[in-house]
Amino acid sequence: MHKIYWKESVIYEVYLRSFKDSDGDGIGDLKGLISKADYFSELGIDTVWLSPIYVSPNVDNGYDIKDYLQIQPEYGTMEQWEQLLEELHKRNIRLIMDLVLNHTSDEHPWFIDARSSRDSRYRDFYIWRPAAEDGGPPNNWTSYLGKPAWTYNKATGDYYLHLYNAKQPDLNWDHPELRAAMHEVITFWLDKGIDGFRMDAVNSLSKDQRFPDTEETKLQASGEPYTKNGPRIHEFLREMNDKVFSKYEIFTAGETSQVTDDDVLLYTKPERRELSMVLSAEASKLADAEEDQWQSKDWTLHDLRKVMLKWQRDVGGPGGWFGLYLSNHDQPRMVATFGDQGEYRVQSAKMLAIMLHTLKGTPFILQGEELGMTNHPGLTRIEDFNEQQAHAYYDVMVLERGEPEELIMERIRKKSRDHARTPMQWDDSPHAGFTSGRPWLPVHPDYREVNLQVQQDDPDSVFHCYKKLIRLRKEHPVMVYGEFDVLLEEHEQIFAYRRYDDDEEWLILLNFSGEEARWELPEEAAARLEGASFLFGNDTDVSKPRCHRTGTLKPYEGLIYQRLSHGSA
Ligand code: GLC
Repeated sequence: MHKIYWKESVIYEVYLRSFKDSDGDGIGDLKGLISKADYFSELGIDTVWLSPIYVSPNVDNGYDIKDYLQIQPEYGTMEQWEQLLEELHKRNIRLIMDLVLNHTSDEHPWFIDARSSRDSRYRDFYIWRPAAEDGGPPNNWTSYLGKPAWTYNKATGDYYLHLYNAKQPDLNWDHPELRAAMHEVITFWLDKGIDGFRMDAVNSLSKDQRFPDTEETKLQASGEPYTKNGPRIHEFLREMNDKVFSKYEIFTAGETSQVTDDDVLLYTKPERRELSMVLSAEASKLADAEEDQWQSKDWTLHDLRKVMLKWQRDVGGPGGWFGLYLSNHDQPRMVATFGDQGEYRVQSAKMLAIMLHTLKGTPFILQGEELGMTNHPGLTRIEDFNEQQAHAYYDVMVLERGEPEELIMERIRKKSRDHARTPMQWDDSPHAGFTSGRPWLPVHPDYREVNLQVQQDDPDSVFHCYKKLIRLRKEHPVMVYGEFDVLLEEHEQIFAYRRYDDDEEWLILLNFSGEEARWELPEEAAARLEGASFLFGNDTDVSKPRCHRTGTLKPYEGLIYQRLSHGSA
């Protein structure tokens, strides 16, 4: 077995703005994060992914960068950032930074210069096209915000492309000087000793240079398919790897969307020297309608199983690698979408955790997920929301199209990314111990019951479940490298699978419903697994009997049975 540390890792996403505030301005900061460094050791994670902390006008909370080489003053200073790196490394914790390569802020000096004149030396750093014959935008692409993806620039008399906000102009990766400039940015951070990058929207860097109209009709089409996995993407990544990444001991996790299995293999097979792993939101988006991500789609366990199987078998099987998650700062809380935020909050949060740590892939935890944090019920009016996508959706649907406000707000309340971004709930003191001031997003009202301090003292808490799963991963290579095989493929409530290697075999049974669920193992599996011992589960009653051919799971129960191979300890 070829051991690879980033496959064995568990990665924790720190959304800095909401993690821990040290100076009472209501915004999380580096000093606050440093003060919590021991927390990562306590939980057992070995890598922190830090959301963007570079200078930014914050149209997209840091994903619109004005200066890649300086720290946003509200977060602190470069010295504090260096101290953070030191404190994490002292504890054997890696730090990966968020690398936004697809676009800058429109306030970045490159863009300010580029938009001022056609003769600017930075003009080709961005993507400019003349108006269509009717004087309108060059093509029919919409952005992720459901608005036109092109904005007219008076000084140069043409349009620039932005797959997100007009204040996030897309960079032109086809231009060699831009690539060289970005390689310098990457080198700047790598020379500081960081351990890698989460790479934002990375499979959008190469666009189809014909810029054809798209037939895609969904609201957030953003030029797909012409803006995804474009003609030169592999060349750009290979170049970045050869010229920069390969000179350091690091790993990369690239955010990719609209990828086939074959695409992922191209991005992540080691011999291709592109990325270490990809991050795909495919599973976390199962409850979003195709035509408009703000609308809900009823998902079934079959849908989830299908997506998971695809990644386990078709990507993991032939040597590709990926991060595993249902939560990040771009999705509502996973327990709300895939579990139960009410009666079975604790049970379902733990069941989902068991899944995310026992499937193939590197687990990514969003801060607060390990406490079972849920969607915020008090975000109700459009003014309550901070994130730009909610506001853009409101503008397009209510103000431009005249859709009923109540209908649109109902969707926003359910799906907004702000749910993932409310402050971390440390304890039951005011504002959950996040800040002494007024938090930039409101603290969830359940913080007196749902907080770290309470959960540290409760062995049955979601927090302790995560801790144990993370520890198990260190003790059992089967969780990382083991083969995968699905069982009970038609079951409507239970997701069941095996992981196995030469030493041991695990049977994992997860009830995705709020009702009891019965299982019966097929003969061949039963012959091997009957008598396997209970290893771990999310039920408070831990004295489980050995595995039988049939059994019943409680609502949202998750169980792991373990059978050791003959000859192993
Ligand atoms: C990624 C980020 C998201 C951001 C977008 C634009 O998807 O995760 O938060 O809005 O890229 O940078």
